[in-house]
Amino acid sequence: MRFASLLSLLPLVLVGTSLTTGPNELLPRATFANPVLWEDTPDIGIIRVNNTYYYTASSFHLSPGAPILRSYDLINWEFLGHSVPVLDWSSKYNLANGERAYVKGIWASFFDYRKSNGLFYWGGCIEFSQSYIYTAPAVTGPWTKRSTINTCWYDAGLLIDDNDTMYVAYGNTQISVAQLSADGLSVVKSQQVYSSSFTIEGSRFYKRNGQYYIFVTRPADGQFILKSSSPWGPYTINTVIDKTPSPTTVNGGVPHQGGLIETAAGDWYYMAFIDAYPGGRIPALAPVTWSADGWPSVQLVSGRWGSSYTTPNISPAGSVKSPVGTDTFSTISPEWEWNHNPDTTKFSTGSAGLRLSTATVTSDLYAARNTLTHRILGPTSIATIVLDYTSLANGDRAGLALFRDSSAWIGVAKDNGAIRVAYASGITMVDSQWTTSSTGSIQASASIPTTGRIWLRATANVMPGANGKGSFAYSLDGQNFTPLGGQLSFITNWTYFLGYRFAIFNYATIALGGSVTVSSFTLAKA
Ligand SMILES: *[C@@H]1O[C@H](CO)[C@@H](O)[C@H](O)[C@H]1NC(C)=O
Ligand SMILES: *[C@@H]1O[C@H](CO)[C@@H](O)[C@H](O)[C@H]1NC(C)=O
Ligand SMILES: *[C@@H]1O[C@H](CO)[C@@H](O)[C@H](O)[C@H]1NC(C)=O
Repeated sequence: MRFASLLSLLPLVLVGTSLTTGPNELLPRATFANPVLWEDTPDIGIIRVNNTYYYTASSFHLSPGAPILRSYDLINWEFLGHSVPVLDWSSKYNLANGERAYVKGIWASFFDYRKSNGLFYWGGCIEFSQSYIYTAPAVTGPWTKRSTINTCWYDAGLLIDDNDTMYVAYGNTQISVAQLSADGLSVVKSQQVYSSSFTIEGSRFYKRNGQYYIFVTRPADGQFILKSSSPWGPYTINTVIDKTPSPTTVNGGVPHQGGLIETAAGDWYYMAFIDAYPGGRIPALAPVTWSADGWPSVQLVSGRWGSSYTTPNISPAGSVKSPVGTDTFSTISPEWEWNHNPDTTKFSTGSAGLRLSTATVTSDLYAARNTLTHRILGPTSIATIVLDYTSLANGDRAGLALFRDSSAWIGVAKDNGAIRVAYASGITMVDSQWTTSSTGSIQASASIPTTGRIWLRATANVMPGANGKGSFAYSLDGQNFTPLGGQLSFITNWTYFLGYRFAIFNYATIALGGSVTVSSFTLAKA
């Protein structure tokens, strides 16, 4: 079943109450803690539709792409769907025939809702060449590719003006604006509107009180804003935050490259991401105020982004699914993304769970199709799968990885009819073309019965600066877990962009034909 939504509306922190007694303050206001969601969801584009908030994030080579999250209070978020159902613009996104597309794919893109025709729009540039626009009649889809733009809308932000005209702001350092056709699917005019003396990118495009704003980041430590009375400029620039330390609860990089959002009550917030490797880039929220002359500033606490703030004044219109809980794979729910497009003939879901047939003959986890990934919940979490290995074929490896450009796994290996639970490490890619530099090796193993099921567990600590590590254990009864293998020291390099993930895999080293069934995945805070 899908994750339960127990407790999801409780504020993360309850304050010691100072009981003010004004008529509007009969209840003490709670506070929320940053990050609001400790999961890798960078390049935030945030919107509100009526009383519901959505945000879109980058997902690179993972499929489906461009996750959509939903919240009713800006604090509790759930994964709702994806704007890009399949990465179908190049065969290399299939991870087949020796091709791979690691770290390419979905980057900083736009996402918005257009009232006049009831469509949601997603758009983004792929591999510095073309841009694609997808639309959907409902946020959950179906999402379809509607047009190809022969320009790279590098880091695109969409504005739907009061008179329904759509504009895209994009670019790196030279910022351009494109005005779209009435259907929002082609360009009628575009021009450069600003040239910066330092690197800026990550455009988000807003209008407030008749002024046009392009909200840009200086990677990876500053946020700036351009303002003009016309979408075409001239724009003047102002600093929003510059080298502001992240919340002490994370102690990661400077919060940047996010979006501004206005609540139904007219309060403004900035949701930015914090570089928090090895876990990835995670969202933090802070209140924003506007000066009389129309410049926003972020409310800081002792010169840094707050670890907590007063909870937004919002009456939530609903509740969201908790990030922790058990998934039994009645379907592939939107928390999950495949490593590249999956071979859809090699997996199924249903009442028995997730059946993964081997899809690739390889000794390289990074070349194996149909690895299903799930973000790690920081700062520490534990993932446990129940895996039936009765139908493995000789040479198969199936299990649970901590997956990034330096990976390790616990799994089941079948060789010459014998079954072992195994720990493999030293699985690495190098950071130019993301070619595999080592397929790793099995470092520890133990015999298990030749048929049956096994509980496989990975524990991850992705707190920045904590020399985060992953460790592995297994159980044959679901009660008593035995540690296996050494610890994986997480690498914190940013060049792979994505953070570590839990990853369920099954690949063949000899021949296709084997399969496993994963009846559940349980995510818990450590
Ligand atoms: C927003 O609210 C209005 C008024 O209740 C409703 O007509 C409209 O369908 C809602 N829009 C969406 C996208 O739910
Ligand atoms: C909407 O307003 C903009 C800015 O004033 C203008 O350039 C554009 O032509 C208008 N579009 C329509 C459809 O009225
Ligand atoms: C991480 O980055 C450093 C500095 O660029 C580099 O020397 C090292 O090889 C990288 N490590 C990995 C595992 O990519």
